[in-house]
Amino acid sequence: MSESNANWWAFSIDPEARAERIHDSPTGEREINPVLSGGRRDLTYHSYLALEKLLQCQIPTSKTPDERIFIITHQMFELAFKEMIFDLAVLTKTFIQLLALHDGLDFLKTAIGTERDFWLPPLTASARIKFSCKELMPMIMRFLLNKGEEETFSGIEFYKFRNNLTPASGFQAAQFRLIQRAFGKSNLLTVHLFPSQAFRGTYGETGNKEELTTVIDKLILQDDLKTALPPETSETAQIAEFDDLAHRLLSRLPSLGEGAPRPIPIPLLREDLVEHNIENFRKILIHQRAGASETRALLDREQKAVEQFGQDLKESAKRENERRNGLNSAREGAFYLHTVAPEAPLAKIMNRLVSADVALHGAHEESFLSLHMKVARENLREVQEHAKEIGDPEPPIGTGGGGIPYLGFVMRNLLPLFPAFIAYRDLEDTPVLSWVE
Ligand code: HEM
Repeated sequence: MSESNANWWAFSIDPEARAERIHDSPTGEREINPVLSGGRRDLTYHSYLALEKLLQCQIPTSKTPDERIFIITHQMFELAFKEMIFDLAVLTKTFIQLLALHDGLDFLKTAIGTERDFWLPPLTASARIKFSCKELMPMIMRFLLNKGEEETFSGIEFYKFRNNLTPASGFQAAQFRLIQRAFGKSNLLTVHLFPSQAFRGTYGETGNKEELTTVIDKLILQDDLKTALPPETSETAQIAEFDDLAHRLLSRLPSLGEGAPRPIPIPLLREDLVEHNIENFRKILIHQRAGASETRALLDREQKAVEQFGQDLKESAKRENERRNGLNSAREGAFYLHTVAPEAPLAKIMNRLVSADVALHGAHEESFLSLHMKVARENLREVQEHAKEIGDPEPPIGTGGGGIPYLGFVMRNLLPLFPAFIAYRDLEDTPVLSWVE
């Protein structure tokens, strides 16, 4: 933890401790508004919000006006991600505290109870997570939409600075990867799927340039690797395991008992779906080579890439199915919560988290990933068209990780295989997320 973040992580869910002020401490926490001599204090709006630093962090590469909103939009996202990670920390702490109640009756009373002092922090935290994913992020993304009467960003202007940014890519949004891991997607993120040439070339990494990479590889994340894969001692280590933690909590709840209705079983990843996805991946490669001469070397490389991706996805699906096979009691507990205490704070929190996952990762039109893809696709299309129009022989290549076809494939084909909090979803109906498109 950097010292400047020490106050941020010095939070408590304990009702008494929550109201304590932060004082200077050897672990780096700083008292922000100390009482000075004569009882005076000198905090200002500017110093409380660290505006001196915050407003010096926007450093464009060009004189293009639209580059400013490009930076600000991304920074607003990073702040929203930071808050989401923090809110996940509040939920993590709450769930750990619940699980520490060894007496079964105590545990059940608190878990399905409504004690205000205990539930307020996770209730507001889960509402913020849902709000960020469903409302805020789509709204912020709208700044970069280059379409329609009210366009707020221009692909023609983007053309003027895009090449200055190579090889930086949204792939390197490490906080987003941590959130995806908290939402049960760790198994998916280990799949080698994306081309690595641009990154290997520009970051001077050794290794075969043709090899595929994962988005949580050091090659992609560089110094931010520890954000996505926090070391055990880190404040955020447990957040990466949040999906498992939520399932552990659900598994401590009772089942409805004999003769009562039962939830439909948790679906397993079927082999034919995995094979279908491997074939779809092959289609992306075939589509991308359109027009190129089909040399033996190219076809061999393609075959190797499909094999690598296929092997990884099969292993991921196997690990995921093993995990799901261990979630039967979490499924029973989820059904109990959903049936016996649907208005309890814990049920509200779980509902909000499921909605947040759908809003962030779903393939429907308003999801964050859908909107992002629309913004990315439309801008890159305009950049290319403009380059052609002005006769640029080397139009900006976009980012390095394979671009739109990969984004679409992940969103439509892969992410639906790894929904968050699987034991709590679709308890009575068939899955709402279509498995493949
Ligand atoms: C003009 C605007 C944008 C364009 C053209 C764009 C383009 C892209 C492209 C092409 C990729 C695929 C990675 C690659 O090929 O290297 C990508 C990935 C990504 N971008 Fe953007 N992007 C834009 C705005 C944003 C914004 C505002 C965010 C907010 C954080 C963002 C976050 C991401 C994330 C998280 C990924 C990884 C997605 C995944 O793996 O599913 N992008 N972007």
